[in-house]
Amino acid sequence: MSQQQEQWKSKIGFIFAAAGSAIGLGAIWKFPYVAGTGGGGAFFLVFLLFTLLLGWPLLIGEFTVGRKGQTDAISTYRKLAPNTNWAIIGKIGVFTNFLLLSFYSVVGGWIVLYLVEALTGRLSGLSQEAYGQRFGEVISNPTSTLLAQLIFILLTVIVVAQGVQKGIEKASKIMMPALFILFVILVIRSLTLDGAMEGVKFILVPDFTKLSSETISFALGQAFFTLSIGASVMVTYASYLPKTQNLPKSALSIIVMNIAIALLAGLAIFPGVFAFGLEPNAGPVLIFTVLPVVFDQLPFGFFFLISFLILFLFAALTSAFSMIEIIVATLTKNDQKKRKKYTWIIGLLIFIVGVPSCLSYGVMADYKIFDRIFFDLIDYLVSNILLPLGALLISIFISYKVPKNELFEEIRQGSSIGKVAFALWLFIIKYITPIAIIVVFLDAIGLLDWFIR
Ligand code: PHE
Repeated sequence: MSQQQEQWKSKIGFIFAAAGSAIGLGAIWKFPYVAGTGGGGAFFLVFLLFTLLLGWPLLIGEFTVGRKGQTDAISTYRKLAPNTNWAIIGKIGVFTNFLLLSFYSVVGGWIVLYLVEALTGRLSGLSQEAYGQRFGEVISNPTSTLLAQLIFILLTVIVVAQGVQKGIEKASKIMMPALFILFVILVIRSLTLDGAMEGVKFILVPDFTKLSSETISFALGQAFFTLSIGASVMVTYASYLPKTQNLPKSALSIIVMNIAIALLAGLAIFPGVFAFGLEPNAGPVLIFTVLPVVFDQLPFGFFFLISFLILFLFAALTSAFSMIEIIVATLTKNDQKKRKKYTWIIGLLIFIVGVPSCLSYGVMADYKIFDRIFFDLIDYLVSNILLPLGALLISIFISYKVPKNELFEEIRQGSSIGKVAFALWLFIIKYITPIAIIVVFLDAIGLLDWFIR
């Protein structure tokens, strides 16, 4: 039997926690390098459109399902569509989050290691190439990366074991505002570098010749990934909400914060890239090699570097909380007595599953499956297959399995959304998002060309 649900303490607490889930490696680490390879401004514009036109409605959708269900991700679908197999969405969600955290924690570990590097003075005064080399050395050391990954998971477990209010909400309420403030300071410094305007233009002025079908699929994947859509994480977070919360508005605040951070990350990095004559399409190493160079030029650069790394770690942690929370909630069925034990066990299992991903940048680098190292394989499976699949199924579920009047009732509680806006929302969920997801999916697996031909 399902136990009494925990609840968020305050409206803003929920918003920070959900924004914390959204804002993470996606916006800060992936966005700049994907934008860097995908042509900058044009990518950003498409990402912005997808976020607002598809991400926002879907986020409202996950919130609506979650708050209506008031229970864990698997039981919710069961409750809303009894005697059907739709709980599969929740099961896929649990599996997705498990795999996701197994490689997310690898990058989380890199941040921990960089923090140690910075604190011991090894991350200053080097040349750009030397920073690149240092990064390669750091991520290929098996012992320290595994240890760091474990530390990252332990930090996640310690917070989530405390519960929704005392753990996740409390931590997010401190971490998220701090992240914004530091980012703004960072951007101000980046923008005052000589030659910064080149970088600003790169990320803000779209060059449509750079747009390809690949860039477009990337942008959609990125929009969903950064909003934590498709994994029922937002369903779970919304299940802890009272009926007084305005769902469309909360979703919009989260979207705006997410876009703001992605933009700030772009504005922090690209001016530096251009000012120092670096390559914007350096890939995953971008943030780890550019920012130390930028910080080197700053008065109190050491202090800024450390603060940045701490906040970068916070951003990754608040996302990790949500991944483990959905698993804990489904396995404990919200029985708070079981929370601590389960969180620890799940954390440990995720670490074990994550070992090959961690080692794939070092001792297992030559071990490839489908031509990909293990880390990339799991990332591909989660970001390009499982999350879009989850988003597609959720759209179908909302469109056909929950009666329209019940959806309307649920969304209207706490908000003043009218009939027309509601109809528009449902239209997007029913027709636009599924089509967009399918098109992009076919493109990703190379079938679109085949159809068009
Ligand atoms: N939104 C998170 C990020 O950008 C990743 C995430 C995806 C978290 C799906 C939970 C579920 O880093």
